[in-house]
Amino acid sequence: MTLVQLVQAIYLISAVLFILSLAGLSQQTSARRGSIAGMIGMALALIATVILSLSESERTPIVTLLLIAMALGIGAIVGTWRARTIEMTQMPEMIAMLHSFVGIAAVLVGFNSFITEPPATVHLIEVFLGILIGAVTFTGSIIAYLKLSAKISSKPLTLPGRNWLNLGALVVSALLLVWFLISASFIPLVLMTVIALALGLHLVAAIGGGDMPVVVSMLNSYSGWAAAAAGFMLGNNLLIVTGALVGASGAILSYIMCKAMNRSFMSVILGGFGQESGAVASSEAADMGEYHEILAPEVAELLKEAKSIIIAPGYGMAVAKAQYSVADLVSKLRADGKEVRFAVHPVAGRLPGHMNVLLAEAKVPYDIVLELDEINADFAKTDVVIVIGANDTVNPAAEDDPNSPIAGMPVLKVWEAKRVIVNKRSMASGYAGVQNPLFFKDNTSMLFGDSKEAIDKVIAAL
Ligand code: TAP
Repeated sequence: MTLVQLVQAIYLISAVLFILSLAGLSQQTSARRGSIAGMIGMALALIATVILSLSESERTPIVTLLLIAMALGIGAIVGTWRARTIEMTQMPEMIAMLHSFVGIAAVLVGFNSFITEPPATVHLIEVFLGILIGAVTFTGSIIAYLKLSAKISSKPLTLPGRNWLNLGALVVSALLLVWFLISASFIPLVLMTVIALALGLHLVAAIGGGDMPVVVSMLNSYSGWAAAAAGFMLGNNLLIVTGALVGASGAILSYIMCKAMNRSFMSVILGGFGQESGAVASSEAADMGEYHEILAPEVAELLKEAKSIIIAPGYGMAVAKAQYSVADLVSKLRADGKEVRFAVHPVAGRLPGHMNVLLAEAKVPYDIVLELDEINADFAKTDVVIVIGANDTVNPAAEDDPNSPIAGMPVLKVWEAKRVIVNKRSMASGYAGVQNPLFFKDNTSMLFGDSKEAIDKVIAAL
């Protein structure tokens, strides 16, 4: 077996491990196994790539090894530091930032490959497309990072004729590709790069408010395709397979999330999302009447009398790190023979699966954590619902008010229960910035306070 064959064989094993990793990650019970498969696959891929670059490099092997070790060392130090310090709630912005690295890497690989490789037509197309996707991913991800970390406003940027601008950018890029294929020169390549950087910036800047989660998974998909393009340029099969896996799974995730938010997939892929015309926050200005406040001891009384209880957690539970207190409350109530379940909205929190991860961390049994479709019909038969730091995901305006910015988004029908307790710190709105009529319903009572403190008080009162 030659060295190249050995490396290809290791790549194949890595590719299989990556597929097993994705399969494992799709279920909480096998997620740990999935992560481990991914780590082994990545370690093998790195080893194989180092072996290959040592054999192909014209430098003395020790210099190549030192260069690789330096890059790996810096990456490992920064990566470990960030992974340890990042809060769960900052995860989406961190992911957005990581996607921007994939984007810029694809751009750099593209230019490098153009300079070093002979200009065959197929190769030129690979270079052009790789740089295009990479540049869009790079600036798009940076804007997503800035929006998600609230460093810039999350309002959609609405330039006049913005769809035409995007279309124009693509048409001009196509013409530049023709120029590039004829002349194989730097000018069309650089022009296209500038246009693609602007396109990425504009695509994501045009997406606003509650529709942001889809952007992250959409960029995840773009970054996958950028990696696959880099794989073609470098002639690296594993990079092609991995990029395609990331590209496809990101696209599928975007699709699932669009369905969860009742948005059209095409409008996300094309950008310019979340700004249906006339979508004024009509409910915001309207007077919604009085709300009722409730204190922890009364909540405890209600819970003592209840037979069936559903907990609907949201972003506030994550911020307050209240999952352990909530898990405590649940095990007490279950020990008293009550039926307690969780209702998890697909976009509760700030990233897909956010609530599931937190609840798993607090060792809540998986079988009482149900998805929206599985539990939405049961609210009407439930005695008490406790909403913990959730807002948009339980907003009846999504169903009743066609002018609401979240109109049509499927929501947890918590208001159908006999009693609803909403825990949050104030009457402030949630991520989408709209007022919630749920808080003013006759069967709803507000338990104000930080989720952890509020739930701890309820436990004490029980
Ligand atoms: P939100 O609608 O954002 O509401 C969370 C509520 O938690 C806020 O109204 C806030 O009210 C309360 N809160 C904040 N800190 C708290 C604390 N320490 N203790 C108690 N309450 C606290 O959350 P949601 O219902 O989970 O909905 C998620 C929203 O985020 C959706 O609009 C969704 O589209 C969007 N989004 C989702 C994702 C994904 S993929 N999940 C990603 C990005 C955006 P107070 O300030 O009054 O306490």
